[in-house]
Amino acid sequence: MLVTSRSYAEYEAMFDLTALPDSVLDCSAGGSSFTAEAAARGVDAVAVDPAYELSMAELVDTVRRSLPATTGIIDDHEAKFVWSWYGTPERRDELRLEAADRFLQDIGETPERYVAGSLPELPFEDGRFELVLCSHLLFTWADKFDRAWHLAALRELIRVSSAEIRVFPLVVQGAGEPVPFLPEILDELAGVTWEIRKVPYEFQVGADEMLVITRS
Ligand SMILES: C[S@@+](CC[C@H](N)C(=O)[O-])C[C@H]1O[C@@H](n2cnc3c(N)ncnc32)[C@H](O)[C@@H]1O
Repeated sequence: MLVTSRSYAEYEAMFDLTALPDSVLDCSAGGSSFTAEAAARGVDAVAVDPAYELSMAELVDTVRRSLPATTGIIDDHEAKFVWSWYGTPERRDELRLEAADRFLQDIGETPERYVAGSLPELPFEDGRFELVLCSHLLFTWADKFDRAWHLAALRELIRVSSAEIRVFPLVVQGAGEPVPFLPEILDELAGVTWEIRKVPYEFQVGADEMLVITRS
């Protein structure tokens, strides 16, 4: 799986963020600069990803190789992407390269913010974070992870949150197909309310909605 580097600006749009609460978890954070940029704003921000088990040299290599690899996916599915948010492919590449640099600098300087861990079992206590974000893992990889895994992963994201969970996008990578089991697993969640909310971001055609789960 690719360890991509979306920026804070992309997260802001994908998750329709305005103000951040005191504590935020970026789950499947990969090479994103969200955690570094949120921490710079005074937020207790933590990133979790299995890639943080890699050595620094391996992580640098993995993060650097992800940009050309994602560009390849876009080229293979050209008609499935729109450029309204990024403007141009060059601007997208620029944002991703800046985000990768920021991430690599931050993990080098403050490694304690970056925790190695994998869904569906995260190394955090119940209710540790007010807001939990998950970008481009659940649903994106529904061709690799099955319904049971998604349900367990959502329950784990709910467990480590005290208030709210946001997941983006809700379609499968590449072709952008909807995920057939999404409505069923939402029905199986207990002790929460959920809604599917439009966001001011679209890159994969039709991927302009996030899942918002609120603990009741
Ligand atoms: C496409 S990247 C997304 C990275 C970042 N969130 C972004 O939007 O640029 C998917 C990430 O999920 C991570 N990942 C893979 N399996 C995971 C799991 N079981 N639990 C948590 N993260 C996982 C990968 O290591 C990778 O960094």
